[in-house]
Amino acid sequence: MDLPLDHDQDPNPMDVDSSAPHWFGRTGTRPTGVVATEDVFTAAGHATGLVATLLLTVTVVLGTMHAGRASSASFPRFAMHAVHRNASLLAVAFLLMHVVIAIGKPHSGLSWPVALVPYSSAVPHPIWLGMGTVALELLLAAIVTSVLRPRIGFRYWRAVHVMAYASWPLAIAHGLGLGTNDRRLGWMVAIYTGCGVAVAAAIVRRWLSVDADRDARRAAKAARR
Ligand code: HEM
Ligand code: HEM
Repeated sequence: MDLPLDHDQDPNPMDVDSSAPHWFGRTGTRPTGVVATEDVFTAAGHATGLVATLLLTVTVVLGTMHAGRASSASFPRFAMHAVHRNASLLAVAFLLMHVVIAIGKPHSGLSWPVALVPYSSAVPHPIWLGMGTVALELLLAAIVTSVLRPRIGFRYWRAVHVMAYASWPLAIAHGLGLGTNDRRLGWMVAIYTGCGVAVAAAIVRRWLSVDADRDARRAAKAARR
């Protein structure tokens, strides 16, 4: 069900008050041309943020499935690995656009230092914004250590890679915290719910497969005795 989207009823959380820097402009407070420019940034900010959220979900689900030894004839492990790697790179590409748009948006009050160093300066809703920054940095660390994996070795790579799990709840909290009242739309609820179910299912399946691996190892050991 589509609910009415009235900014006066439910203002964007980034619109603190009319004198503060605006990340999402509210119509009626500035000349028509400026509002139109801001609307383009607003739409682009939503779109890139949502696409990045979906790609991040695909990345985490496939990484978890790969680590849980999932495979099938139509989706073998090497293909899972390739899609996992490419989805992660695409997610970061969309995130860089997302950040450039957030910074470039008129009246945003954001800058690269604020976007890259969490809680470094006074911005509206620093907790939600800082979560996005930390999530992005965890993703970058996962990618950089994957590129450097032959040099740094499996142990360090894996330590950083396991931390990438945290990027997902941080990114979701950031999107929900800063998202506009679009989140009341049915399809937005469906996207967030679908992402949550997919990640939860992949993690549960992974746990079960770890148990199965361990049981098989124990049975093999007992048979050797
Ligand atoms: C993994 C990292 C990130 C993800 C997945 C992500 C995703 C999202 C999503 C889904 C939204 C809500 C869109 C809507 O419903 O209106 C959003 C909003 C926002 N994000 Fe991010 N974001 C991330 C990192 C960042 C970073 C590092 C910044 C730093 C500048 C940032 C700045 C913003 C701002 C200012 C908003 C509110 C305005 C807008 O929607 O453009 N995000 N983000
Ligand atoms: C956005 C960046 C990335 C994120 C968020 C991410 C996330 C994950 C997660 C959550 C896992 C499951 C870890 C586990 O439970 O053991 C995983 C596994 C894996 N990832 Fe990534 N990953 C990213 C980028 C990459 C890149 C660029 C590569 C490089 C090729 C890569 C290669 C792998 C491999 C090989 C596994 C499976 C490890 C195993 O089978 O034990 N990942 N990833």
